[in-house]
Amino acid sequence: MSDSFNHPIGVFDSGVGGLSVLRAIRAQMPEESVLYFGDQGHIPYGPRPMEQIRRFSEAIANFLLAHNAKIVVVACNTASAAALKYLRARFSNLQFVGMEPAVKPAAETTRTGKVGVLATPATFQGALYASVVERFANGVELFQDTCKGLVQEIEKGNLTGSETRRILEGALRPMLEKNIDTVVLGCTHYPFVIPLIREIAGEKVRVIDPAPAVARQVKRLLEAGGMKSDPSARGDVRFFTSGDPEALKSMLPLLLGESGEVERVKWVGDSVLAGETKQAPAP
Ligand code: DGL
Repeated sequence: MSDSFNHPIGVFDSGVGGLSVLRAIRAQMPEESVLYFGDQGHIPYGPRPMEQIRRFSEAIANFLLAHNAKIVVVACNTASAAALKYLRARFSNLQFVGMEPAVKPAAETTRTGKVGVLATPATFQGALYASVVERFANGVELFQDTCKGLVQEIEKGNLTGSETRRILEGALRPMLEKNIDTVVLGCTHYPFVIPLIREIAGEKVRVIDPAPAVARQVKRLLEAGGMKSDPSARGDVRFFTSGDPEALKSMLPLLLGESGEVERVKWVGDSVLAGETKQAPAP
């Protein structure tokens, strides 16, 4: 593909969580065009079997590839835990950037030696998390919580309401009692509630959002592969969802700080996306 530098970056998540990664990509590489896929027809991924998440991820990667993605960002810790290794083997000509809980920077900077990790059940169960802990925790004590129901609240745009606060207090209070000084956000939905986390945990607790580091990694790979877009270009974003396009569209200004049209894509069974790309009607 000689003109592949003009092609878009593919980004996907189970829903709006990947917008936290997209936000960092837009800030660092405004010249790049992006395809964003939110699998809102299947959200949440967190409690699902690994094998099913792998099937969804493979179909989404196929979809993004069919739309000329030059690189794919798995902007979902859960899908990375379930499918990243598989995707890399299955699509050997395509590069994937995935997410892993930022235990390494947390362990390097904690002073109390106690760190909280917030992520989904599948992420905690996956081999990726076990390997990150084994390689980087380095004697640091980790406290884990799955924040049950938080992904769904964030999907509704409830970033500060009473249910969101109840879930976060339930997760963070016991960790704070154990003297954690760092919170690792191991789910791409959670950066959207950083203000509330800070309110509960206090300004002294460091909150690690890995999105900027992931965007930097995407940039490095594009540069190394000669795939960067012309820096004077202005990239655009095409949004796709397997859920309700109007619902995603209405969330974009709040979560991404941009607006855009959203196209609906339908699943055929669990493993094929019927590239239906009709433009959603304006409201
Ligand atoms: N945003 C996803 C993650 O980073 C998970 C949300 C879900 O459970 O679907 O893990």
